[in-house]
Amino acid sequence: MLDLDSLYSKNANNMKKSVIRELLKLTQQPDIISFAGGLPAPELFPVEELRQAADRVFTGSPKKALQYGTTEGESELKAELIKFEERQGVKLGKDNLLVVSASQQALDMVPKIFMDPGDYCIAGSPTYVGTIQAVQSYQGRVLGVPFSPENDGFDLVELEKRYARALRDGKRVKFVYVIPDFQNPTGICWSLEKRKALLAFAYRHDLLIVEDSPYREIRFLGETLPSIYQLDQQSEDRQIVVNLKTFSKILIPGARVGWIMARPEIIAKFVIAKQAMDLCTNVFAQMWLAEYLKTGKIYDHVKEINANYREKRNFMVEMLEKYMPKRFDLGWTRPEGGLFLWISLPSYIDTEKLLPKALEQKVAYVIGSAFYFDEPEHNAMRLNFSYASREQIEAGVQRLAKVISDEIALHDSGPRGQTSPEGL
Ligand SMILES: Cc1ncc(COP(=O)(O)O)c(C=O)c1O
Repeated sequence: MLDLDSLYSKNANNMKKSVIRELLKLTQQPDIISFAGGLPAPELFPVEELRQAADRVFTGSPKKALQYGTTEGESELKAELIKFEERQGVKLGKDNLLVVSASQQALDMVPKIFMDPGDYCIAGSPTYVGTIQAVQSYQGRVLGVPFSPENDGFDLVELEKRYARALRDGKRVKFVYVIPDFQNPTGICWSLEKRKALLAFAYRHDLLIVEDSPYREIRFLGETLPSIYQLDQQSEDRQIVVNLKTFSKILIPGARVGWIMARPEIIAKFVIAKQAMDLCTNVFAQMWLAEYLKTGKIYDHVKEINANYREKRNFMVEMLEKYMPKRFDLGWTRPEGGLFLWISLPSYIDTEKLLPKALEQKVAYVIGSAFYFDEPEHNAMRLNFSYASREQIEAGVQRLAKVISDEIALHDSGPRGQTSPEGL
């Protein structure tokens, strides 16, 4: 019998299944109201406009669209991306840009390029699980930094403290990974002050910043803040930021197209890494999206999804206020954009153990502990508000509130409840 375990590489043995993708399988039964995925609302996909753009590719340049392309990306798409970013105040040359098979590919290439086994990156605690998975698959490690109680970015005191301790312990820290605009999973948006402070921290310590911005354009409340990539351009222009963008949340995830912005030497390294992965991003999809972008309709589309998500986010917050037990130790974030909010529950509730009870009541969420590299918080959950309908949001929150209330009642009435401080 072939002993596969002895044949797998150390990297392969280090790969962990995504808890989210495993749980999502459970939540996909038709009668379950799922707040679990990170899916955009499919009824808002601009299907007809995208069909017309695809037709134009097939009639205009089918042979090119069906052929291999360059690893760097199709020039028509790159030209459109440069315009798209310039409209937001980002200065870009063609050499600063690489088209990728959506952001997850970029997230896999980052540790591939920058981490040796045992190296560290700094990331939020919690942070996007797909990044944790990618880092682990190259035997990298995550130095988690908690967010400040104001929900405006990292706790900077903890950042300095933990970084200094890591250096004292001889750890090699390579980069800081952040999602400053409406973080997955918490929905937190970094303040301008904290963005500047993180850039100064990276300048001071010669670290790279990997700024992951899939939700950047999905702002439905408040004012847009400059990205850290832009702040670097506006200050010393040291070009230490790698900015990852994608069409997945602002348009369609199915095309699997995203882009990386960075200084040319870093882009050149990404190109080599990508050559070994997939040679080039789907050429048809690139030309198709370029055709769509040429129409300028993306801007109206983003306005439309933002209006829809604002309404759904407000409604979910309203329903949480209406149905959730009112307690000092139960609360949720109120994001100004993105697709998620984050609920913190009394410390004795483990959302992983609670999930089967929620599924029994036909409602699903993602367990908070999935978003930690280590020291997980077990009493939190992530809820998505973009996918469910208004009716489903009300029914789902009502069911979830009942599951949580029952759990609190069970705790308060049990022997532990009578003796533990939370029960008082
Ligand atoms: C923070 C973050 N980065 C990257 C991704 C991956 O997106 P893509 O579909 O572009 O691969 C996601 C998807 O949910 C995400 O939330």
